[in-house]
Amino acid sequence: MNDVYEKVMELAKRRGFIWPTSECYGSVAGFIDYGPLGAMMKRRLEDIWRYFYVIQEGYYEIECPTIAQEAVFIASGHLKGFSDKMCQCPHCNEFLRADHVAEGGGIAGGATMSNEELSAAIASCKCLSCGEVLGKVEVFNFNLMFKTSIGPGSQRTGYLRPETAQGMFVDFTRLLRFYRDHLPFGVVQIGKSYRNEISPRQGMIRLREFTHAEAEIFVHPDKKDHPNFSRYANYKMPLFTAIQQEKNEQPITITMKEAVKQGLIANEYIAYYLALTHDMLVKIGIKTERLRFRQHLCTERAHYASDCWDAEIYSSRFGWVETVGIADRTDYDLTAHAQHSGTPMTVFIQYEEPKKIQRRRIIPNMSVLGKQYRTKAKAVFDALSNATPDVDGAEIEVDGEKIHIPINLFEVRDEVIEVRGEDIVPHVIEPSYGIDRMCYAVLEQAYDEDIADGETRTVLRFSPTIAPVQVAVFPLMNRDGLDTIARDITHALQKQRILAEYDDSGAIGRRYRRQDEIGTPFAITIDYQTKEDHTVTVRDRDSMKQIRVNIDRIPELISTLLNGTIHFSSL
Ligand code: GLY
Repeated sequence: MNDVYEKVMELAKRRGFIWPTSECYGSVAGFIDYGPLGAMMKRRLEDIWRYFYVIQEGYYEIECPTIAQEAVFIASGHLKGFSDKMCQCPHCNEFLRADHVAEGGGIAGGATMSNEELSAAIASCKCLSCGEVLGKVEVFNFNLMFKTSIGPGSQRTGYLRPETAQGMFVDFTRLLRFYRDHLPFGVVQIGKSYRNEISPRQGMIRLREFTHAEAEIFVHPDKKDHPNFSRYANYKMPLFTAIQQEKNEQPITITMKEAVKQGLIANEYIAYYLALTHDMLVKIGIKTERLRFRQHLCTERAHYASDCWDAEIYSSRFGWVETVGIADRTDYDLTAHAQHSGTPMTVFIQYEEPKKIQRRRIIPNMSVLGKQYRTKAKAVFDALSNATPDVDGAEIEVDGEKIHIPINLFEVRDEVIEVRGEDIVPHVIEPSYGIDRMCYAVLEQAYDEDIADGETRTVLRFSPTIAPVQVAVFPLMNRDGLDTIARDITHALQKQRILAEYDDSGAIGRRYRRQDEIGTPFAITIDYQTKEDHTVTVRDRDSMKQIRVNIDRIPELISTLLNGTIHFSSL
C-alpha cells in the first residue's frame, strides 16, 4: 500500500478523526482539528500516558498557562537560541527551512552547519515549493516562538510556550515543598505547545500548535539510579547509538541493564524511560519492527541536554519520525531560573552523619574599621571575610579601590564546625512526547485492507485500549423487541463507562463495515435466538469471528476485552 498516507488521511477526514482547521476560510498549514473520533482517540492515548506516568510512576500532573512572560524564555535560552535556519526562494518568494532544502538535495547535517556554510551548500538545491534551483540565498535564524502582548497597550511581552517544561521548572520551589523537600520527584504536564514552524508540509507530523506530554524528574546529580530500575532492567529493545550512526552500523538489540553497563546509555534513569516509552508505544499499537531509539549526535543535542535519545517511529510516508525525546537536562534550567529570578532552586541534602569541617573565619575589629571606613564599612567587612591574609594583613578591593588592612585590625580564627548537609541543584531527566505524532503513527499503522464477504474491507486495527468507539450494538431487526434488548445492553455497557454505539440502520454487513472502518474492536448483535436463550453474538473486528455469550456476562466480558485482561482468541 504505497499510498497509505492518502488513504489514511481520506478516511480520517471522512469519518471524523482529523480535519483541516477553519476549512471554510481556507485552512492554515500547521494547525488541525480533531473531529469527534479523533478527539476521543487522542484522549484515550493521553490517558494511557497518564496511566504510565501518574499512576505507575507517581508523578502528579500540574497545569500551567500556555503563555508565559518574556523573562521565563530569556532565562531558559529560548529567546536567544530556539530558532531554525531559514531562507527565501528568490523565484517564488516562499520561506523555507534551509536544512530541509539541503536534505531535499541529498545534503545531510544542514541543521548543524553555520549559516554561511548552509547558504553555500544549498545554492545548487531546488526550492521545495516551486522546484527551481535556488542559487545563492542568505540563510538566517528564525525564532520559532509566537510572540504576543499581555494586557492592553503592549505593556508586557509574552510568548506562547514552545514546551510545557518551563512551567514545571519555574514552579520548582513549590513542587519541592509539595514533595516534602525530598529527591527524587517527578511532575508531568499535558497541554498545547506552540512553534511557529517556517513551512510545515507534513500534516500531523509538523504542527504549529501541538499537544506535548512531558515529565520532569528531579534527581540528585550523583544518584541517577532509578529506584525501580529492576522493572525494565531485562527489557530488550533496539538502540541506535551515536557510535553506530557514526560508523554506519545497524541498531543493536540489547537489555537496558547491559546498555547502562556498557555505557551506551548514560544512566539508569534514561534507560528506564527509554524502556517505559517502548512499552507504552507497543501498548498503543506501534509495531516493534517500526520502532527504534536513536541517540542524538553531540552536534544535534538541544542547548540544555547532556544526553538525549529519540523514540523514532517508521512511517511509510515520512520515514523515521522523532516522536518522543528523552533527555538528561542536567541542572541547566534550574540554575538559569535561579540566576535570572533571584530565587534559589536548590534542595538541602542532609548527610547520613554530620560532617566535621575545618573553617577559617576572619573577624574584623569593628570599632576601629567602622570609624575609619564609615559608609563603606559593610563592604570592607564583606571583602575582608573573603580575603586571603598574609603576615602583614589583607589586600581587599572595594568599589574598585584597593585597600590594605593591617594584621592588627582583624583576627583569623580557625575552627571546626559540624555540617549537617548541603544545598544542591537537582538534575532533570525529561521524557517528552509528541501526542499528535503518536496519533498519526497509530492511525497509519492501524490502517489495513482485507477481504470480507468477497469485498475489500477497510479496517483500522486499533488496539482496543485506544479505539474511540469501544463496542457497537446492533439489533438484527429494528422490531420484534430486538431493538429494546439492544438498547438495554447499550445502557448496561454505558453504565460501565464503555463507549457503546447503538446502530439499527441498514443491512448488518454494512453496519459491521462502518464500525470496522473506524476501528471499533467488538460488535454485539441481538438476533431472534436472543429471545429464546438470552444470548447475543460478540464479533471480533480483526478475525471477524463470532461467539455467543449470555447477555448478563456482556458488560464484564467487554470490559476485560477492552483492558486487555483477556483476548478474544482465548474465548
Ligand atoms: N521539552 C522538550 C522539547 O521541547 O522538545
